Amino acid sequence: MTVSDDIQARAAQLREQLHRHNYRYYVLDDPTIPDAEYDRVFQALQALEAAHPRLIVPDSPTQRVGGQPLVAFTPVRHQVPMLSIHTETDPGPDGALAFDAQTRRELGLDETAAPVEYACELKFDGLAINLRYERGVLVQAVTRGDGETGEEVTPNVRTIKTVPLRLRGAAPEVLEVRGEAYMRHADFERYNARQRAAGLPTLVNPRNGAAGGIRQLDPVQAAKRPLSFFAYGLGEVQGWELPATHSALLDALAGFGLPVSRERTVAQGAAGLIAFHHAIAAQRDALPFDIDGVVYKVNRLDWQRQLGFRTREPRWAVAHKFPAQEQLTVVEAIEVQVGRTGAITPVARLQPVFVGGVTVTNATLHNADEVARKDVRVGDTVIVRRAGDVIPEVVDVVLERRSAKSQSFVMPEHCPVCGSQILRPEGEVVARCIGGLYCSAQRKEAIRHFASRRALDIEGLGDKLVEQLVDRELVRNPADLYALDAATLAGLERMGGKSAENLIQALARSRTTTLARFLYALGIREVGETTARTLAAHFGALEPLLSADLTQLQQVPDVGPVAAAAVQAFFQEPHNREIIARLRAAGVQWPETAIEPVAELQPLAGKTVVLTGTLESLSRDQASEQLRALGAKVSGSVSRKTNYVVAGRDAGSKLDKARELGVTVLDEAELLALLDSGGR
Ligand code: IVH
Repeated sequence: MTVSDDIQARAAQLREQLHRHNYRYYVLDDPTIPDAEYDRVFQALQALEAAHPRLIVPDSPTQRVGGQPLVAFTPVRHQVPMLSIHTETDPGPDGALAFDAQTRRELGLDETAAPVEYACELKFDGLAINLRYERGVLVQAVTRGDGETGEEVTPNVRTIKTVPLRLRGAAPEVLEVRGEAYMRHADFERYNARQRAAGLPTLVNPRNGAAGGIRQLDPVQAAKRPLSFFAYGLGEVQGWELPATHSALLDALAGFGLPVSRERTVAQGAAGLIAFHHAIAAQRDALPFDIDGVVYKVNRLDWQRQLGFRTREPRWAVAHKFPAQEQLTVVEAIEVQVGRTGAITPVARLQPVFVGGVTVTNATLHNADEVARKDVRVGDTVIVRRAGDVIPEVVDVVLERRSAKSQSFVMPEHCPVCGSQILRPEGEVVARCIGGLYCSAQRKEAIRHFASRRALDIEGLGDKLVEQLVDRELVRNPADLYALDAATLAGLERMGGKSAENLIQALARSRTTTLARFLYALGIREVGETTARTLAAHFGALEPLLSADLTQLQQVPDVGPVAAAAVQAFFQEPHNREIIARLRAAGVQWPETAIEPVAELQPLAGKTVVLTGTLESLSRDQASEQLRALGAKVSGSVSRKTNYVVAGRDAGSKLDKARELGVTVLDEAELLALLDSGGR
């Protein structure tokens, strides 16, 4: 059966539209149509192809996932070997200096010659892949393997949304593109959360996620792991004249619609390399994916050819590594910590290990289920990960190194701090000490929380001071803070008369606050900053809230049955009421806010906000949550319809776009002011 020209043309047109939108969405991160519209076009093409299977071409956007599971991968010999790269592990400038000196020597440049120009890139932490495009269509994807021969993984690589199935523009006869398949942090977290919820094994780190995803025999399984790709080089090329430099080559690849990282630069001489290394080291934690260093490449391709290769490494490139974010160490003990609400967290005490730039001696094990799932035992050798400001974590046990003497963790029955019972309510993951404010660990946490910056903001009341105040029984609850005098404080360790005086003044300042901050400071379970703010706005004053019943509480936007019950239980507790009364008697006060109609509780309704870059005082998730609570829509991409772009540290293309479109840009302070004012 032949398919009419009309229908063929229609299919081609739909494919063309989808290729264009894919490119805007996945490569430029700048979609021009809503997801629902994309889905409609996609379904139209699917329907057409279902009716006329002859229309299906390998580069159709519908053909990313599919095919039968493989029994084994087919070995493929690389047309051009995939070499490795020399690595400098010294984190100092020596690595860059040595590479530059050697390059100049080998090029025969003397001191009078101009600095050598280098293309500087990130060293992505994933799996190297060779993509083969013939006349612009992706025909084959192969892993690096031993450099000479890799494995064909085309069906899996086709599931990577950022890999174009067809190149844009006039494509060469043959173009082999080399780059890294990797997993973004957000995709890694989402994947693991889903696996955990389903009781399935989780990924140890994004790198393993990428490598394992590419090496799945069943492409349907591979498609479940959302991977990404960055191009950084070439393999075989036919019918294309190469540009003169590596940086121009990357620009050309981007022009073909391939994803190329924006975090790259052209640097002059060793000084330029060192500056790039510094700049990227400072940004590392804020990047949305893992890197393990930077790569320097001699920019001129004719010089690259002249420099050539050592056995298996090019002389024109070097990788300059950062300190590793994962290390092996030994679990010396597993102890438990008591949090503000009595939550018991198992913590691994570790043989000190240098990881992610600091010495780590403790790592969280989250909860008893996690300990059981990972089967972490005392005496085990484990992989510890510390990335950015995230608390160090035990990600896996090295089972081959387990000794017969290793000991499993047992949740204690009694709180190690106060001796009260530890209970784990049915269906909950968290075990808790039932000691409440009788437990000094919980008291300390409650007071730390009360004094914290986003609560009553008592400057100078640090952890060490809280420890002493509670241990000496000078403070049992937040109300006791306001009874302290300068003489008592001055008598404490590491407290002079001056700091005692400062603290008294800070306490005095903290007396005037807002109802929202006060409610948050009380540390009611289920009441975070956002809920505290909505409660304050809804009730306007404390008294009606103290006596609110469950129905009234549940009328507050975003307050469900669980939060309502927690709030009611808290205010019914006589001890809590007494502390509140004492705080008020001590002069803690706030201006009464008028009761607001519910509509006004969503002052940012109809507004679209885009967050970009790194925020210092709250995570992007927290910022999004708070913005949404005020009615805003938080979007991932900037368009003319965006009302605000919040630009944190190292904001990139979205900030440029906002400026280009004249969208209002807020810095972090302005965002906080907006949130604090409740959106007005
Ligand atoms: S260039 C001939 N550039 O690092 C030079 N490699 O041994 C070939 N890698 O596993 C490598 N980011 O996958 C190059 N921007 C980058 C890279 C990069 C990560 C990986 C590559 C390979 C290893 C090099």
